[in-house]
Parts: sequence; C-alpha cells; structure tokens
Amino acid sequence: MGRRKVSVIGAGNVGATTAQRIAEAGLADVVLVDIVDGLPQGKGLDLAEAAPVVGHDARIVGTNDYAETAGSDIVVVTSGIFRTFIAMELGVSVEDTHAFVLGGHGDTMVPLPRYSTVAGVPITELLPPERITALVERTANGGAEIVALLKTGSAFYAPAAATFEMVEAILLDRKRVLPCAVYLQGEFGIRNLFVGVPCVLGAGGMERVFEIELNADERAAFERSAAAVRELVERLPA
Ligand SMILES: NC(=O)c1ccc[n+]([C@@H]2O[C@H](COP(=O)([O-])OP(=O)(O)OC[C@H]3O[C@@H](n4cnc5c(N)ncnc54)[C@H](O)[C@@H]3O)[C@@H](O)[C@H]2O)c1
Repeated sequence: MGRRKVSVIGAGNVGATTAQRIAEAGLADVVLVDIVDGLPQGKGLDLAEAAPVVGHDARIVGTNDYAETAGSDIVVVTSGIFRTFIAMELGVSVEDTHAFVLGGHGDTMVPLPRYSTVAGVPITELLPPERITALVERTANGGAEIVALLKTGSAFYAPAAATFEMVEAILLDRKRVLPCAVYLQGEFGIRNLFVGVPCVLGAGGMERVFEIELNADERAAFERSAAAVRELVERLPA
C-alpha cells in the first residue's frame, strides 16, 4: 500500500489542528486547502518545518488549488465562516447553529446517561439524578461555554481531536464505534437526514449504524432533536 493522503479543507483553527495531528501521528500525507491566499501555504510550511523536530515523515502541502487533493483517501471539510452569519440569516441562536453543523448537537442533543459508563457501570448507578442532569446540561452547552470564554471563535482542539479519531479509524480500518453525523436511511426510524448517531468506522468509511435500544423518553428526545435538525435544513435556501 502506498502512502495515504488526507485533504483538509479549511486551514483555520479546526483544519490546521486536524492537519497537525494527522501529520504528527505519521498517519498520512496532508493537503491543506483554503480560499485565503497564503494561509494554507504558510501553515503548511510551518507544519512541514516542525516535522524534523517532531520526527515524522508525513508530507504537508498548503494550497488554494483543489487539484492537489486528487487521489485523497479521505477529505475532511472544516471550511466555514463563522456560524454567526448563518445564525443571523436563519434567525436562530448561534447555540442552535451547532445543531446544524453536527446534527443533533447543541441544546437538542440527546443525552443517554444509561449508556454512559464508568468502568462498565452506567453513571445512573453512580451519580444522583440531579448531578446527571447538571452534567447533561453542561455537555449540551459545552460548545457555547467555550465560545463564551474565547469571545471570538469556537472550540478547535476537541473538534480536531475528534476528527483525527475518525480519520484514524478509517485509514487503519479499526472498526471504531464513534458518534458521527450520519445520513440516516431508516435507522432509528429516521430517513434522509444527517443526525449524530453511533456508527462503525473502518476502511469502508461509515460501515454501519450502531443501533441501540432507546426507551420511550430517549426516543422522544431523539425524535425532537432530529425534527430540529430537519427544520433547520428546510430553512436553508435550496
Ligand atoms: N459543531 C461543533 O462542535 C464545532 C466546533 C468548532 C467549529 N465548528 C465549525 O467548524 C468550522 C471551522 O471552524 P474554525 O474554528 O476552524 O473556523 P476558522 O474561521 O478558524 O477557519 C475556517 C477556514 O475556512 C476557510 N474557508 C471558508 N470558506 C472556504 C471554502 N469555500 N473553501 C476553502 N476554505 C474555506 C476560511 O478561510 C478559514 O480559514 C466553522 O464552520 C465552525 O462553526 C463546529
């Protein structure tokens, strides 16, 4: 097998950090693409110059030209201009705009404490209900909390780490079960919509949705979340 190649579209905070993680892990060569002239070239060169110090052989190219992405094993899209404008356009809160980016992310996120475990023990067995409620709320508002602290911009280390995890699972055919925004075709009773669900990631990309049993409350919350995503999608111009 030849060298693997991953293209990262958008050389901003999330994109450049994702490129850095992929290169430094020696997982693949990286092509960093952005519309801003000089930005991907500058960051690409900086990352390449770190290679001998960090000790990896990944080649990193920064470019404004999509031709360089030809033959990529994976393309990661992180391009975007800040969520504020989308939120203003749609007349919705920037918090809810997270829901659109990842599908079911944000304040309609479906918390599943029953499936959250510590050493195999569900947290429902370990924590009182009021602590679980507080944790669930903080998780659903996690993105907004970081935005409030940073004042400009949003989280990027954690999103880049999660993206790296997905890229690695696919390139190394690890069959990891990870939460991803998946185009559902009847799984969980939802059709023709990207919603965040656990799925198996391997050499075939998204290989299958990992369907889990939901109780009545969880199913109702999931359907509310999917309905919120569908409503946002329908409000986007065709
Ligand atoms: N859902 C989440 O949890 C979450 C968290 C963080 C960021 N995000 C989203 O991820 C995206 C990237 O975040 P960021 O912090 O890296 O933003 P950023 O502004 O630092 O970087 C975005 C980059 O994309 C580039 N870009 C814009 N349009 C492009 C195009 N058509 N082709 C190529 N490049 C283009 C911009 O020039 C910029 O360099 C944003 O849309 C942000 O809202 C989501």
